[in-house]
Amino acid sequence: VKAERQSYPVYLGSGFDSSVYRRALLGLPMSRIFLVCDSNLFAFHGQRIESNWISTGRSVETLVIPRGERRKSAATIGHLHDWLIARGAKRDDLIVACGGGVTSDLAGFAAATLYRGVRWGICATTVLSMADASIGGKTGINRRAGKNLIGAFWQPSFVIDDLEWLSTLPPREFRSGTAEIIKSSGLAGGRLFKLVRDWSELGFQTDHPGLRQILELTVRYKGSIVARDERDTGLRMVLNFGHTIGHAIEQSLSYRKLTHGEAVILGMIAALGVGERSGSAKSATLVTFSKVLYRAASQLPAVRLSLQDIARSVVVDKKRKTTKYRFVLIERPGRPVVCEIERSMVVSAIRHMLKEYQSL
Ligand SMILES: NC(=O)c1ccc[n+]([C@@H]2O[C@H](COP(=O)([O-])OP(=O)(O)OC[C@H]3O[C@@H](n4cnc5c(N)ncnc54)[C@H](O)[C@@H]3O)[C@@H](O)[C@H]2O)c1
Ligand SMILES: [Zn+2]
Repeated sequence: VKAERQSYPVYLGSGFDSSVYRRALLGLPMSRIFLVCDSNLFAFHGQRIESNWISTGRSVETLVIPRGERRKSAATIGHLHDWLIARGAKRDDLIVACGGGVTSDLAGFAAATLYRGVRWGICATTVLSMADASIGGKTGINRRAGKNLIGAFWQPSFVIDDLEWLSTLPPREFRSGTAEIIKSSGLAGGRLFKLVRDWSELGFQTDHPGLRQILELTVRYKGSIVARDERDTGLRMVLNFGHTIGHAIEQSLSYRKLTHGEAVILGMIAALGVGERSGSAKSATLVTFSKVLYRAASQLPAVRLSLQDIARSVVVDKKRKTTKYRFVLIERPGRPVVCEIERSMVVSAIRHMLKEYQSL
């Protein structure tokens, strides 16, 4: 992944031994390693990960943090900093997040702020973190007023994605991450789109032999966007596809009942609805993309959603402009466009999405 100050490697494979861990450390100072591990991940894979790091010859300390989005807080950051300082962490030491997006957002923010910035790396252990959260250097925490309000751009020195870790991921978490892959396939088009289409025809099974390649292309796609807009001032906005209404759905449910990825699937269906209503004719590949989305949506739990609540939540979206809404639409896979649309169109797209969801 290319970034302004440094590029960094992403190691993607299955059943890695310590040689990959050693390679990840090449060029970094000979320092201590502080592992910050998610508690679920640690129960399943902690010992193996720890021993792989230990066999690189470094001194390794581990902190296990309780799982859950609720822990992505200032309190946990304080705890992390205190732990690092008490253990005598130096500026040259390395922090390694081992877990999903919650862990990397937390450990990355701790790394960005400890002594004004120490190096860090990521062992990404969920589909969502491999496909999305580990790429691009956004780190941060939530506040009561909203998610991810506090944070920093701080690029990791490496990312390790071992597909074996995914074998223990709860199916619903797996599917939630799949939503971001589907999103990228719609934005990127090309080979990634074809591979995801084929995978959808097989019901998005979790042991799909093509998953490694799909993840590789997803990482490459997000990496290419981030390289061109590291600080999220323009182009990176396309990654928000499906998220304007997706976030509104999550908020309307007080972040319960549907996972982030599940809400994003519905958000993307709504966004396709906006596209249709804005008059552009649907290309054949866009029809195929919508079939991929419907296959993913057919795996969603049945939840009662309210048009009014969702529409109300879109109003307070961060991306709001005065009277019009900035929306990422897809003309066809591989061709995203950013549009300004009227509120009435947003509401009718939500209505359309709800009808489709209820008829699944
Ligand atoms: N920084 C970014 O660019 C970015 C992008 C997207 C999302 N995010 C953030 O990522 C977070 C969501 O990430 P997530 O979906 O990975 O959630 P998560 O980190 O909470 O992990 C999901 C669940 O899986 C468990 N888990 C992790 N690895 C496991 C494994 N291998 N086996 C079994 N269980 C395992 C965790 O304990 C947790 O219960 C959100 O906070 C979101 O804001 C950040
Ligand atoms: Zn997302």
